[in-house]
Amino acid sequence: MATNSGGADRVTTVSPDSTIDFTVRRMAEKHGAGKVYGIAVVVDDDARVLGILTDGDVRRAYAKDIDFSLPVSEIMVTDPVVLPRDEEPRNILGHLTRQIASKSRLTTNMVGHVVVVDDAGRLEDVIDVVDLLARSGTMSDNVAVYGLGFIGLPLAVTLSNVGHRVYGVDISARVRADIAAGSLGFHEPGLEDMLSIVVENGMLTIHERITEPNCNVHIVAVGTPVSADGVIDERGVIGAAEHIAEVLKRGDLVQLRSTVPVGCTRQRFIRLLEQRSRLTAGVDFFVAFAPERTVEGEALKELRSLPQIVGGLSARCLEKAATFWSTVTNTIVRVDSLEAAEMVKLANNTFRDLSFAFANELAVLCDKHNLDAFAVVEAANEGYPRDRIPKPSPGVGGYCLTKDPLIYDRSIGDGETQRTLGYHGRAANERAAAYPRKVIEHWSASRESPLTELSVLCIGVAFKGYPETNDIRNSTALSFALWAAGAVLSLRVWDAVVSGEALVPHGLEFAEDIRAALAQADAIMLLNNHPAHKIIGVPRVLNEHRKPRLVFDGWHQLDRTELERIPGMTYATMGYSTRR
Ligand SMILES: NC(=O)c1ccc[n+]([C@@H]2O[C@H](COP(=O)([O-])OP(=O)(O)OC[C@H]3O[C@@H](n4cnc5c(N)ncnc54)[C@H](O)[C@@H]3O)[C@@H](O)[C@H]2O)c1
Repeated sequence: MATNSGGADRVTTVSPDSTIDFTVRRMAEKHGAGKVYGIAVVVDDDARVLGILTDGDVRRAYAKDIDFSLPVSEIMVTDPVVLPRDEEPRNILGHLTRQIASKSRLTTNMVGHVVVVDDAGRLEDVIDVVDLLARSGTMSDNVAVYGLGFIGLPLAVTLSNVGHRVYGVDISARVRADIAAGSLGFHEPGLEDMLSIVVENGMLTIHERITEPNCNVHIVAVGTPVSADGVIDERGVIGAAEHIAEVLKRGDLVQLRSTVPVGCTRQRFIRLLEQRSRLTAGVDFFVAFAPERTVEGEALKELRSLPQIVGGLSARCLEKAATFWSTVTNTIVRVDSLEAAEMVKLANNTFRDLSFAFANELAVLCDKHNLDAFAVVEAANEGYPRDRIPKPSPGVGGYCLTKDPLIYDRSIGDGETQRTLGYHGRAANERAAAYPRKVIEHWSASRESPLTELSVLCIGVAFKGYPETNDIRNSTALSFALWAAGAVLSLRVWDAVVSGEALVPHGLEFAEDIRAALAQADAIMLLNNHPAHKIIGVPRVLNEHRKPRLVFDGWHQLDRTELERIPGMTYATMGYSTRR
């Protein structure tokens, strides 16, 4: 049996004379992608397994007031469930069942992890039971994932990692080449490591097309962009449906995961699948809508922890899809129909965008009164137990929040002239995105020095800083930088994650030396919330190199009082600026 990844390196190990306290602290440490949490293995000097300590054992010891300065050998479980390294996948289930039955202290649902050992009983790995069952073939499928972008690739890698044999499909030669080279076009912590493991062990292969009917599950994760005039581009979904129809066979499960308008799965996706394959949905093959709700930068973690929404064409379709997703995450939320699942996804993102829209509209109103909008929101939330107001921001960017509310808006139906709150929220966020430009224009006019004489430094160009990403799609910071590049004397950009190379196609110059760039700039615009902005020493550098300056602190990351003490400084943030 092949083990998961770095094997014993992923596991917390301690010697039998380590104290319980030391062992618990080691278990709580974070290290490396793929770390096995919730268990420590007690080993001798030769790495032979002597026992284990699980989170449950720690809880029980605590409840019994056991002294945590005692050696861990006092409370470790000395007969853990173990699996020989070379066990045949088809024998794994039988082997485990027999062992669990022979240990009267255990029931099946109490075993979360299995220790894998070599012939001499030395630790090889610790494997999550769900992963193990998936790998034993009892829960694994041949899955095709269509679209290997920000969403499809982490999904394909995760599905391979839990034991499915995955065929990743993308029509873009560049995307396929990047994946083959292991150099991803985007930043997702842990993804590169996991990708190399599942490619190496053959669980994930990359294709332009699937030509044989060898997959029984098909998942569509292609992009669904929306144009500036609000038209939803469903060509990726249509292309994927045509492709699937060529290899679709009886018993297959087809799932749409891309964000689409309500009704798209039934009215266009299924219709096309049926027309092209001559099979009947719900009878010959199963269909479900299972939306993606992970956040970029935490996708691998959230794929395994977020509840998965599932809506089926029929009750059988729903159950098929729910069983499939239970190999990935513990909580499945079944909804009544395909349309309900489509709507849940739109509701989540539209509500999120709208809540930011409120905070951002408030910031624009604060501007009329020269009020620091962050201070207003903080005061409103202080100790108040109802409905927290989010922090304002210079707009809301990114791939999803800029389009999903518009997809929601269009779900109102063709010919309907009324606009939804989704649409109006977008408009409020667009107004907030224009605010940094208003600030610098106002400052330059108030000093009677034209924009064309200013050096400007933009800090943070990815569409968000936390969780960090290098995604600049629909970034409001990028839009500002592109405008400024054509309006001011010189513009430089710095980002903690986005590389200078990624900015070349946009004609933007990266500030390699951030402190030198700070010292030189007349206006410094902090445009996303990456935590690194707090530690690059903005106030110190500006204090050492005094001159008349503007600092626009778009996410309130700096100390306003400290900055305002520096002679010549104009400090601005959302709301607090243009009326001075
Ligand atoms: N990015 C996010 O954070 C996020 C979060 C939740 C949901 N979503 C949704 O997930 C979907 C995918 O988003 P993304 O950010 O991964 O997009 P993306 O543009 O990064 O990736 C889409 C990929 O699909 C490929 N593709 C297009 N048509 C294809 C076809 N017919 N067959 C195979 N491949 C095809 C493209 O070449 C591209 O590589 C969208 O509907 C999006 O709204 C995205």
